[in-house]
Amino acid sequence: MEFAGRDVVSIKDFSREEIDYVLEKTDSVEPLAKKSSHALDGKIMATLFFEPSTRTKLSFESAMYRYGGDCLGFAEPKAASVQKGENLADTVRVVESYADVLVIRHPLEGAARLAAEFASVPVINAGTGAEEHPTQAMLDLYTIRRELGKIDGLNVALAGDLRYGRTVHSLAYALSLYDINLYLVSPTLLRMRKEVLEEVSGRIKVQEFEELSKVLSKVDVLYMTRIQKERFGSLEDYEKVRGSYRLIASDLSQAKPEMIVMHPLPRVDEIEYTVDNTRHSKYFKQVWYGLLVRMSLIGLVLGALS
Ligand code: NCD
Repeated sequence: MEFAGRDVVSIKDFSREEIDYVLEKTDSVEPLAKKSSHALDGKIMATLFFEPSTRTKLSFESAMYRYGGDCLGFAEPKAASVQKGENLADTVRVVESYADVLVIRHPLEGAARLAAEFASVPVINAGTGAEEHPTQAMLDLYTIRRELGKIDGLNVALAGDLRYGRTVHSLAYALSLYDINLYLVSPTLLRMRKEVLEEVSGRIKVQEFEELSKVLSKVDVLYMTRIQKERFGSLEDYEKVRGSYRLIASDLSQAKPEMIVMHPLPRVDEIEYTVDNTRHSKYFKQVWYGLLVRMSLIGLVLGALS
């Protein structure tokens, strides 16, 4: 399967076979991550972060360093005031002289696609507005596969901010390539984006709920998300839905014994700390798996892995 030189802009650009291939390759990079590798010596990754990030940026950088490569870039939220596509195109055409792969996070939807059109080196989307976060979806699938041994046949709930959360958009698309039942749990105001709902429900069974308690005993995966305060048009609307869900350890007594709780992080108040010590919590393991998936992707697009 040919990945060298490829962009990772939308999860929708990948078939199930291609995603499964990335997940298989991810198993093989774990030893490299543990002892480090020189496979990407001399290669440079540029991280262009026009929006705040802690783990995604560090995860990509760590992945590159563990592969022997180097990183440069910026993480200046103020640069988000660069609202013109034209400016981004220029930035990309400058930075591609400095780096072999570009990782971009931007508040505008479509920004990664635009960057990919202008760049001659591979572009990896690390989050565009409320639209998509494809590498997060791949690491979420990898987490499910590692922890539960399979993806097909599972009942998966996505809960929280399904309107503004980009991770759940990419994840819903990705999950719809598998044979799963999808439960969408959100306040009415934060229902899953229409275009995602339409596409996904054309492929798999989807049910919508407002209460988490309705699905807790049914699911194999509970994927919690943060209410995306920064993406609301008004603070008043945010106040209506803040703290909608708050998972506590005692809620989990109704859960299947093997049920896993995931979260892309950062969490605010949707998962109480008492859940961390239960057998169900996997959100910190997700971080390690994320590093591996990003090593796998970088290795593939730079031709170090095939
Ligand atoms: C997410 C994001 O940035 O979309 N974080 C991440 O990349 N792990 C989720 C969030 O900000 O809530």
